[in-house]
Amino acid sequence: MFTIIKDCSPYYVLFTYDGITDYIKELQSIASKAEFVVSNNKSVTAIKEVLPIYDTEECYITNPEDLKIVTGNNPCVNVLNLDKSATFLTTLPKVRSPIHIDMNGGTNSPVRFRINYPVFINDDKCITRWYNSDSIVTHEKVSYVIDETLSNIKCIEQMHFSQEYAILFNTTLPHMWDNTQSINKRTIIGMRADKDHADMTFDDAKKNLFGI
Ligand SMILES: [Fe+2]
Repeated sequence: MFTIIKDCSPYYVLFTYDGITDYIKELQSIASKAEFVVSNNKSVTAIKEVLPIYDTEECYITNPEDLKIVTGNNPCVNVLNLDKSATFLTTLPKVRSPIHIDMNGGTNSPVRFRINYPVFINDDKCITRWYNSDSIVTHEKVSYVIDETLSNIKCIEQMHFSQEYAILFNTTLPHMWDNTQSINKRTIIGMRADKDHADMTFDDAKKNLFGI
């Protein structure tokens, strides 16, 4: 059912399936009428302390009809026990994230993988990079952010989102997104395992989706 387009394990797997084009159109339609606000949660505030240019916009999908489409028309939700909530995230022009691993702020536990979908990809200039885990020093103020001034970091994989494909994303390896070379926003949606399946790893998810 799921077809691998590009396997860059352990960093990411680009994949597709029947119906994904219509699903992405549904995401676009919901995002078009949604009201985005500047992200303002605890982790955003913490990141801004170490990287002041960091800024994102987001929209929690709260309308039950919309949420039903986003989680109900997505075959990965049942296969991977994905959380039945969803948030659009917009990356702003000229902005980058710090190098980090993903943490669930509510449970203070790692997010081991995400299934990411492109919503509005306006160019190929927003680059996602993964880094070597050796010689990484975490920031003294924010435990999930890498201190780039102290760490001996080396980019080992990079990609940009296409408008067509979903991505199984390994969020436990140090990574970042860099939209500093773009004049456009980029909107994606990223779904994680629900709280009862938070231990499911990237490799587990890959096996469940693709059998390998
Ligand atoms: Fe991340």
